[in-house]
Amino acid sequence: MCGIVGYIGNNDCSDILLDGLTKLEYRGYDSAGIALLNKGIITRYRANGKLRNLKKVIYSVKNVEGSIGIAHTRWATHGIPSEKNAHPHNSENFVIVHNGIIENYRELKSFMIENGTKISSDTDSEMIVHLIEYYYKKNLNFENAVIKTIKKLEGAYAVLVISKLEEKLIAFKKDSPMIIGLSDEGTYVASDVPAILSYTNKFIYLNDGDLVIITKSDMKITDFELSPKEYNIKTLNISPLMAEKGEYKHFMLKEINEQSRSVADTFRGRILKGGDELDLDISNLDSFIKNDLQKIVITACGTSWHSGLIGKYLIESIARIPVEVDYASEYRYRNPILDKNTLVIPISQSGETADTLAAVKMAKKEDSKILSICNVFNSSIPRESDAVLYTYAGPEIGVASTKAFTTQMSVILLLALYFKKVKTSVLDKKILEGALLLPENINKILKTSEYIFTLSQKYHLYSDFLYLGRGLNFPIALEGALKLKEISYIHAEAYPAGEMKHGPIALIDENMPTFIIVTDGNNYDKVLSNLQEIKARKGKVIAIATEGNKEIKDFCDDVIFVPKTLNLLEPFLNVIPMQLFSYFVADIKGTDVDQPRNLAKSVTVE
Ligand code: M6R
Repeated sequence: MCGIVGYIGNNDCSDILLDGLTKLEYRGYDSAGIALLNKGIITRYRANGKLRNLKKVIYSVKNVEGSIGIAHTRWATHGIPSEKNAHPHNSENFVIVHNGIIENYRELKSFMIENGTKISSDTDSEMIVHLIEYYYKKNLNFENAVIKTIKKLEGAYAVLVISKLEEKLIAFKKDSPMIIGLSDEGTYVASDVPAILSYTNKFIYLNDGDLVIITKSDMKITDFELSPKEYNIKTLNISPLMAEKGEYKHFMLKEINEQSRSVADTFRGRILKGGDELDLDISNLDSFIKNDLQKIVITACGTSWHSGLIGKYLIESIARIPVEVDYASEYRYRNPILDKNTLVIPISQSGETADTLAAVKMAKKEDSKILSICNVFNSSIPRESDAVLYTYAGPEIGVASTKAFTTQMSVILLLALYFKKVKTSVLDKKILEGALLLPENINKILKTSEYIFTLSQKYHLYSDFLYLGRGLNFPIALEGALKLKEISYIHAEAYPAGEMKHGPIALIDENMPTFIIVTDGNNYDKVLSNLQEIKARKGKVIAIATEGNKEIKDFCDDVIFVPKTLNLLEPFLNVIPMQLFSYFVADIKGTDVDQPRNLAKSVTVE
């Protein structure tokens, strides 16, 4: 789970590569490096820790030149974060960067050691460069040495290779993402679009089994036998600014504040005529939904799994189709019952999460239909799917997912209504009208940021929090707790409010505040009773309640009011104060909000 960038063209490329790595730091940030080819000499620069350390190294050196280069930002899998384990890795004539995992690296390592190769790092990736060197020395040319190497690799890889012997960049991939960017100034290769969006909007999305041979004047895409392959160039209309921080201190804060726009964008073109029509552009599934669909399985990880839980509530209550929701990491190994009457809905912001992708591949083998919900265009999960519904959140850079979550819920809501429409010809226009008001209501909550900041100041020193909600608000409690723990490192756990008296209530005292969602929807009175049980045990309570609730202040320490909406739409609003609270607490504590410790944005390994 790393970020890679490469360039070959007319310009000196150290700044291009560093800029690309900056945009990819969300993929890994425990060490970084670049290698530049200039007049037959390759110079490598590597540094442990954040990218700023690599930048310091490079800026302290004069004459950093090269119009061919490769770069890498690492999230360690094999070998601790350190300079010696940082990419690029080299041999006598070649240098590589790698994203993925080489599963048979031990076997390859023994082979290389037996052949007298000196291994310099603890990584699996280093074996790739030594194998290329090994085959090159067996009288194969650059391309054929790479091909021979690929045949020996087991696992997942997106690899860039340069050689001091030729002005050429070779890229190849299997099960790890890689794209090519084209411009008159040169050819770019990267793990993800934002890395090179400042230089081009013309992209080729590589498929598994693609090998790309790029010189300054030419580019060829072949398979792993060097037979030419056809490809499509896609023009993307995303502004580079969408992938940048703008006026905000952190990407996470920017992304929280974008949610009114991103939810509106996700509805745009789908909810038509003020809520009188719904068009999801998945009519290829209509006959299946109407005649064959018996069960839905939603599979996802982390925050996307929480939106899957919301999906269960929405689809079952609106469309009356049974829904199972599973963590992808569990689902893929539990021998689940799948068949051709099952619709599997993977939900993923990145579209690259290894467990979710594996669950999809497993479901495909059982002939189930796949309808994915994803934020990254043409990423691996959409490409494995029968149909895709994109969330139009725009690039999400902060490791903690925020705008992806609300746009995922937006798509799921529309999907639930669509299922009902296809099955019964009834469209719940009232819900669609309510949905169209969500962006405005999200904005109202965002305007209370200053007040939520004061609550964060009041509560940031507590070391444990409990989050409670019922029904549709239970997944929101889970999401609130996940947000707090992943960026502020404060312990937080979530329960359905009604479950509290079966154990968690034992934790309650004045040192463990509870965040409780007590908005007007179903079970208001019951959640209010749960709240009183906490107060009776001297617990501090922050409540999220509906505007106009006059009694709630008497029962809790602090209240955050949210606008009134339909019961089914409450999660869209209730999650926003929780995101803001977590953000402010983390910022007050001074943690690395966008790149919290031990995490990475895109979990492309098991
Ligand atoms: O890209 P995905 O949506 O598949 O990612 C799933 C999880 O890794 C992700 O939601 C993770 O839990 C985030 N850190 C949550 O903020």
